[in-house]
Amino acid sequence: MRRGKPTLEAATPKGASDPITAALKEIRDSLASDSSGALATYIPQLAKVDPGLFGLALATMDGRLYKAGDADVPFTLQSVSKPFVYALALADLGLDEVLSRVGVEPSGEAFNAISLEPGSGRPLNPMINAGAILTTSLVRASDPVARFERIRVVLSAFAGRRLEMDEAVFTSELETGDRNRALAWLMRNAGSLRCGVDETLDVYFRQCALLATAADVAVMAATLANGGVNPCTKAVVVPQPVAEHVLAVMASCGMYDSAGEWLLRVGLPAKSGVSGGLVAASPGQFGIGLFSPLLDAGGNSVRAAAASRRLAERFQLHLMHHPGRSAPVITRTGSALTLQSGRRRRRAERDVLQAHGDAIDVRSLQGDIEFAAAEVVLQSLGTVPAGARWRVLDLQGVSRLHPGAARMLDAAVLELGSRGVVVAVGDPHRRGLLPHAAVELPSPEEALEWCEDALLESHGASLAPDAALKPEAHDVLASLDEEARTVLGAAMPAQAWGRGDRVLAADDEVLLLLLSGRLGAYASGQAPDAAARRLGSVGAGTAVSRWRPLDDGRVSPTLVAELPCSGRLLRRVQQERLEREHPRVLARLWRQLASQQE
Ligand code: DON
Repeated sequence: MRRGKPTLEAATPKGASDPITAALKEIRDSLASDSSGALATYIPQLAKVDPGLFGLALATMDGRLYKAGDADVPFTLQSVSKPFVYALALADLGLDEVLSRVGVEPSGEAFNAISLEPGSGRPLNPMINAGAILTTSLVRASDPVARFERIRVVLSAFAGRRLEMDEAVFTSELETGDRNRALAWLMRNAGSLRCGVDETLDVYFRQCALLATAADVAVMAATLANGGVNPCTKAVVVPQPVAEHVLAVMASCGMYDSAGEWLLRVGLPAKSGVSGGLVAASPGQFGIGLFSPLLDAGGNSVRAAAASRRLAERFQLHLMHHPGRSAPVITRTGSALTLQSGRRRRRAERDVLQAHGDAIDVRSLQGDIEFAAAEVVLQSLGTVPAGARWRVLDLQGVSRLHPGAARMLDAAVLELGSRGVVVAVGDPHRRGLLPHAAVELPSPEEALEWCEDALLESHGASLAPDAALKPEAHDVLASLDEEARTVLGAAMPAQAWGRGDRVLAADDEVLLLLLSGRLGAYASGQAPDAAARRLGSVGAGTAVSRWRPLDDGRVSPTLVAELPCSGRLLRRVQQERLEREHPRVLARLWRQLASQQE
């Protein structure tokens, strides 16, 4: 198990003015005067607890913790331990093996009911006592001492801190837990419990006597909601499928004989305990921990259950709640005729792109893409415009592509490939979401550049990366007469740069006519590392000028050779000499440059 440093305190939002803390406090205050219910007395030690205690806590997927009331008062987990020990058994043995020993059907009965399958003695589910006792016996360990230690370690990892055991509560239940003993003997008799009764109950009573606060329980629930990763410590506590399975069983069986009404009214996977604890989770969103010791007839905390219901209503958390309409998943469609990449290109290339740019189709997607949104994208991808041979998929605005949706889209990418359509992905997050795409680049503009390069190559209009234009073939020089070319040729010496070199870095470098290679343009002052923002690029046959009248007063970007580059460079001293000796040539040069930039 990977473990990190607990960050609970640091993550607690300061001040009570945030709306989440305010909601928790408001809900707590509105229920604090409800003193209905009774303390659990069948474990005598539990009857000594202050019945007025009432704490709520909510832990987010980023590890932030919101609290109200007695959220830092420890209580024994009791049945709140059950889902977490079930998680450990699932992680140890796998779902099928555990399922063969403990069912997952709601009992519709009290927590201590004798709900065993006739014949096999298999308990109905792991959330009632019979199933939980058997589940405890399944945890892999060489002996009962090691078994409890594993349970303590894993429950502590769920909470993000070491949990201690309450000796007095443990002893109290050990002395009075005859009903559980009877259940265990029945299972032992039926052959479903394969460990010794006393040793199993010793571990089970200890797990029930582990002490945690509502804040701890919120983090434990958040770990389940976060796919098994503790959001505070970042420790991987159980695999994601295990976390999902546990939440599913909590949803159907966590609240005993109230499970159906709970799912109907609250709609969150939850588990209660006789000490007054309650754990609930909203998958992918947060976990909540609640504590209030007065119980209803079913053994669920009166105030904790009511508070969960209010919270779920207030934030519309019901699992079956329709999330409402979202913004369109496709934000932009177009082709290389209407959308330009950030590459400055020579005329011959621009002409080809203008004539054939419709061969490159661009789609920008946004949002959290699940099945329904992916289906919309599929429909759109299926309609390839006639003649389209490249497709840019811009995933910059996609906050999340769910694995099932990613599989759907990747299958479409594969199918497009079989029709001869090449897909280039632009994704600044470099998530590798569509493995069958031809390429994934760090921005949609670069993906479009890549497709443009491919289109130009297919029309024989691209320069090989190592090929250099003759100076007279450069767009600027080609448009000047022979005399001007000769003057400029003498004033602008040839220069070469290696990959990664900064170009036009010195103040006295006024103009570059690029003859080979490519320059990347980065936000001024940024080093061209992975985090730098690439604004665009400059291709061979084009010019870059630092001449003030053309430089429109904005800060010039940093230019870096992305390939070995060569070109002709005009320095200020030469510019000044041209001004004195060949003012008409210089004027024509600037006119040309100005017209190139239009
Ligand atoms: O086994 C028992 O009876 C207790 N240690 C735990 C039961 C429990 O928390 C039921 N919850 N509502």
